[in-house]
Amino acid sequence: ENILAVLGGRPLDYLVINHMEPDHCGNIETIVRMFPKVTVVGNKKTFEFFKQYYSLDISQNALVVKEGDTINLGQHTLKFHMAPMVHWPEVMFTIEQKNGILFSADAFGSFGAHPGTIFADETDYDRTFLDETRRYYANIVGRYGSQVQTVLKRLPLESITMICPLHGPIWRKDIQYILDKYALWSTYTPEQNGVVLVYASMYGNTENAMNALANKLAERGIPDLRMYDVSKTHPSYIISDIWKYSHIVLASPTYNMHLYFPMESLLREMAALNVQNRSVALLGNHTWSSAAIKLMSGLLGTMKDIRFIGEPLDIHSSLKAEQEKELDALADAITQSYITHV
Ligand SMILES: Cc1cc2nc3c(=O)[nH]c(=O)nc-3n(C[C@H](O)[C@H](O)[C@H](O)COP(=O)(O)O)c2cc1C
Repeated sequence: ENILAVLGGRPLDYLVINHMEPDHCGNIETIVRMFPKVTVVGNKKTFEFFKQYYSLDISQNALVVKEGDTINLGQHTLKFHMAPMVHWPEVMFTIEQKNGILFSADAFGSFGAHPGTIFADETDYDRTFLDETRRYYANIVGRYGSQVQTVLKRLPLESITMICPLHGPIWRKDIQYILDKYALWSTYTPEQNGVVLVYASMYGNTENAMNALANKLAERGIPDLRMYDVSKTHPSYIISDIWKYSHIVLASPTYNMHLYFPMESLLREMAALNVQNRSVALLGNHTWSSAAIKLMSGLLGTMKDIRFIGEPLDIHSSLKAEQEKELDALADAITQSYITHV
């Protein structure tokens, strides 16, 4: 309906597919059926993926483009840049040359619906979108930081006046703001100093130890603490804060000689998303035979540039006054690392 309204009775000449993910390409078949003469623009992989998802034969409509190819539409020229693994292998960016409009597929996108406006500068971006843009980046594109870097270095960023992602607001002012965020996120550089504390707990004793540690960190002057129960918060929110902050504390009971599974799942997700360059402290809890700290260290050991802080604290069922000194030492070590972190 929207396309018909914009066209006002004219035929559709071109359809450019920047990304073949189903949340964007579900209507291609319908569009080709409505406009049988439309030229569908994509790269070799785009059409391979199209065949996997759909059954309509669009080979007569297909125009296969490569890196740097252009299409002259008359007033506008479109130039295509391949952006493999800026989410999927077939992703490409399209730049409209006359006005410098970058159609960036999933890059620079955000979760969340438009609040009645489509431009980032017409929203209170920091309050309404920044967290959701980070959560989107970390969880959807986070694994592919080096590929994001490669594409950003290759694009003529100085000539871009507008960024139109496939999700979230359009950028037309202060574009450098979101480019700067991407420069940090794609190099796994924390945006700011802060401690994300994530615990698993069945009876509340590990939670209690984490609360005690958080209090000690607050007493030592660390203002930015984020605490999560791994069983209660969707991992995408925890991962997003891990992307934002410099320090992480993980706490888990031993569970059938494994980690408590939501904690194991979080750690595996962190590894899959290539989380790196963070300072991490560990806290374990067990009643008869300890495995949690070893298992957490092992999974963290598969990630790059993870710096362990202080001695891991293993509590025996519940935190006792005798272990307060060890908790203080851990809080001191985290504080020291926080203060000296640049
Ligand atoms: C299903 C289950 C399996 C457990 N497996 C172990 C274990 O393998 N080794 C151990 O020392 N404690 C084990 N525990 C005990 C917990 O690690 C212990 O109670 C711990 O203090 C729980 O911490 P919480 O109070 O934060 O839930 C297990 C507990 C449950 C419920």
